[in-house]
Amino acid sequence: MRRIALINQKGGVGKTTITTNLGHALALAGHRVTVIDLDPQGQLASSYGIFRAPAKGIDEVMFNALAPAAVKQGIRDMLTLIPAGSRLQEIEYLHDGGASRAHLLRRALEGRLDDQAFVLFDCPPSSGLLVANALLAADEALIPVAGDHMSLNGLAKTMITIKKFEPYLKQPLRQWVALNRYFPRRRLSKEVSGKLKQHFPEQLINTRIRESAVIAECPGIGRTIFEYRPGSQSAKEFSALASELLQRYPG
Ligand SMILES: Nc1ncnc2c1ncn2[C@@H]1O[C@H](COP(=O)(O)OP(=O)(O)OP(=O)(O)O)[C@@H](O)[C@H]1O
Ligand SMILES: [Mg+2]
Repeated sequence: MRRIALINQKGGVGKTTITTNLGHALALAGHRVTVIDLDPQGQLASSYGIFRAPAKGIDEVMFNALAPAAVKQGIRDMLTLIPAGSRLQEIEYLHDGGASRAHLLRRALEGRLDDQAFVLFDCPPSSGLLVANALLAADEALIPVAGDHMSLNGLAKTMITIKKFEPYLKQPLRQWVALNRYFPRRRLSKEVSGKLKQHFPEQLINTRIRESAVIAECPGIGRTIFEYRPGSQSAKEFSALASELLQRYPG
């Protein structure tokens, strides 16, 4: 099983978009996938068309050791969602429990979801306890970066956050950097892409997700790109992203 945390403390870079569409791409390629919404905003459920998300989700799994099976929901063929739940935000403000507050998710998922090929964690744009829980429960981190300088700054901060947690991990997190919201003809996008190649030659995913109107339209109607515009360039890019993750680290 590959557990991948989608993280970047900068907002709007595409964590939820990539979780949604990568999750579906992997499922369409025949892999069992569970996507977990670790963002109290709860937008992952609505991205898949569940506009009235259930009150119980990963929050109850983390707080009350509810079995993930009790809150999971099959949403597409091979694809399962665990929604955020209405109390998820409270995790961010836990005072008691010391370091064990960051291990809630890892412990709750231990020995669970073992029949899944992929578990994707959609993280909030922060570096607090929810992200800490995701990093300690994951084996890999996928950091989406948008094609501007502010995003490089967000990437640097996110890498510092990952470093902070490395001493507590059994093994180092495999890190991926994925360029999203890419404008092929914009000089700035090329500049950012060049810098990423230079600084992260190993981690950088070759597939770039371009900025496109059809991607932005998807969450509003609760459909993935493979349902809304299956023949589009964007659908091809998300399939290529999935293939690259499968090829570069066969698991
Ligand atoms: N490649 C793209 N082309 C066009 N629009 C995009 C693209 N990627 C993301 N978006 C849009 O940008 C907005 C932010 O994306 P998304 O919600 O995935 O970011 P996020 O990192 O999850 O944000 P947050 O940190 O707030 O959770 C959304 O409206 C989404 O539809
Ligand atoms: Mg998001």
